[in-house]
Amino acid sequence: MLIHFGNVPLLVISCPQVTNDIVKTYNPNFANRLKLKPVDIYLNGGRDILFASYGEDWKNLKSLCMVHLLNNKMVRSFEKLREEEIKVLTKKLEEACSSSSPVYLRKLLLTLTSDIICRITLGRKYNSEEGGTIYKNLEMASSEFFGKFFVGDFFPSLAWIDRISGIEDEMKDVNNKLNGFLDSIVQEHVDAADHEEPSDFVDILLSIQKDQTKRFELDRATTVTLLEWTMTELMRHLECMKKLRDEISSVSAHNSYVTEKEVEKMDCLHCVIKEGLRLHPSGPLLSRIFTEDIQLKGYDIAAGTQVIINAWSIQRNPDIWGHDAEEYKPERHFGSNIDFIGSDPKFIPFGGGRRRCPGIGFAMVLSKLTLANLVKQFNWRVMVGPGVDDDKPDLAEAPGIDVCRKFPLIVFPSLVHA
Ligand code: HEM
Repeated sequence: MLIHFGNVPLLVISCPQVTNDIVKTYNPNFANRLKLKPVDIYLNGGRDILFASYGEDWKNLKSLCMVHLLNNKMVRSFEKLREEEIKVLTKKLEEACSSSSPVYLRKLLLTLTSDIICRITLGRKYNSEEGGTIYKNLEMASSEFFGKFFVGDFFPSLAWIDRISGIEDEMKDVNNKLNGFLDSIVQEHVDAADHEEPSDFVDILLSIQKDQTKRFELDRATTVTLLEWTMTELMRHLECMKKLRDEISSVSAHNSYVTEKEVEKMDCLHCVIKEGLRLHPSGPLLSRIFTEDIQLKGYDIAAGTQVIINAWSIQRNPDIWGHDAEEYKPERHFGSNIDFIGSDPKFIPFGGGRRRCPGIGFAMVLSKLTLANLVKQFNWRVMVGPGVDDDKPDLAEAPGIDVCRKFPLIVFPSLVHA
């Protein structure tokens, strides 16, 4: 479907056959993303890996990530660190159980993933006095900016509306604060000149490029969003929660902590997460921009046409997934060979082709481990309030680059073995 959105031609693709041509082709003309106002202002024109134009800079960033962070060996090497941080999370939940207090699950999960990612990339955690809170607030602000409509993106002659509305200044301000925070981290590493070996990712970047540090952010919100939606669905489908808990308890019968080795043996857990990725892909609209005139399925498409691949709609299409496509049914994946790593255009929660997500291994191990520990050790009851129908969390979505719940999931945990 081609829409003229203001001055911008926008091609929306909702069928797997065409998606296949776009994401799997080796044509580099399909490997750029569209850059809207927040990328320009908030992400300095898109020099980060997600929005970098396809070319040398992007290739260098991607290879840095793969070599030093996201390959299987590196992901496995963070096992101890994940265990320590998940134990911090379950300790907080135990305290909430003993005081019967409600918890805002997304906030706890964001702290978990922030702390893990800060330890891996920056060498340590940042508490509220040191900038941890500012980092979290800025990250949240950034997902809000990405959900906003900027008039100038589609009607360039009306770009002044964005300027007088104050939103541009707000983004510049948040960007300055974030850069200040990241600069202080880099300075901290430069000052600690006694490191014999690079010990974290910032050290590695500094040792590779002493005077040209590049900004690098790891994606943590998407993993949290997957976990939050999966917990939402499990609390709506208590029979799935029970099945999952039975599997976890039979594979991990001894200690309260579920280990990574045990998690690898859990099929039901895998299907529960897979179904969460299908119904609630955290990046539901994949973006590309054609840099040259091309032919697609017999149509001539002009250079500059922006493309949105609607993964959300493909993953709910009844022709592909059956009449119950809208329902949360992890069992549909038992014995199924449809994978989600980008090779099958029917299921693309991590995108596909050259710009496919490089964090799949990282995200999967952390999501499975966290979910297994949350379900094994705690019962969950949702707090009645906005976003809750019939004692069950609803499925309303918020706008943003990462589509999370509209209303916070506030829950009361209680110990399974009290
Ligand atoms: C459940 C969790 C996650 C989901 C659903 C997810 C999804 C996605 C999607 C849809 C894209 C765009 C792909 C495309 O356009 O074809 C993407 C890109 C990306 N993701 Fe993820 N992601 C997740 C976790 C992570 C994690 C944990 C990391 C890093 C540790 C990460 C790093 C990246 C990067 C660097 C890109 C940009 C790749 C490029 O443009 O070359 N992601 N992700």
